Amino acid sequence: MAKKLAVLVSGTGSLLEAMVNAGLPIGLVLADRDCRGLTIARDAGIPAILLKRKYCKQPDGKFDRDEYSRKAAAILQQYSIDLVAMAGFMTVFAQPLLEVYAGRILNIHPALLPSFKGDHAVRDALAYGVKVTGTTIHIATLELDAGPIIAQRAVDVLPGDTEDTLHERIKVVERALYIETLQKMLAE
Ligand code: GRF
Repeated sequence: MAKKLAVLVSGTGSLLEAMVNAGLPIGLVLADRDCRGLTIARDAGIPAILLKRKYCKQPDGKFDRDEYSRKAAAILQQYSIDLVAMAGFMTVFAQPLLEVYAGRILNIHPALLPSFKGDHAVRDALAYGVKVTGTTIHIATLELDAGPIIAQRAVDVLPGDTEDTLHERIKVVERALYIETLQKMLAE
């Protein structure tokens, strides 16, 4: 049977949009907050689910990452998802999801890992003064931006670049690389 992909989003969803336009077999879009990604999915007729972080709280009010991961795993299984692509998704998963989808959850990060981990990768690369940065696709693990690397592509930093102009050029490369990588994995 053909494999089904889930795309996880938190933001503008331009990677998701490119995946939809490329015809990837997206069976579900899951978001952790209200975001444009959900609208893109609904407009394309793809099931879209909002699993807010606040739905999963411990008695002391703290975010319950295990519970969130269990709920996400149940939803992904309910939609018979084979492969998961995080595309600007801002929540790190815990063991209950990572063990169910072991090796089948990908993340994309806008820097050449292991350099510039974290939420401000493009800003940090610019501030450091690197002349080349890029993007990395890796397997998601418990540790942020640290799993085995699947693919990388370099992007030159140009004189006068701002965080926005550089991130936009990285995103162009990310769209092509993520789609190619997912197509290969879905065909395996
Ligand atoms: C991408 O640059 C990705 O590497 C990072 O978040 C960005 C997502 O962009 N993790 P968008 O929401 O798809 O436009």
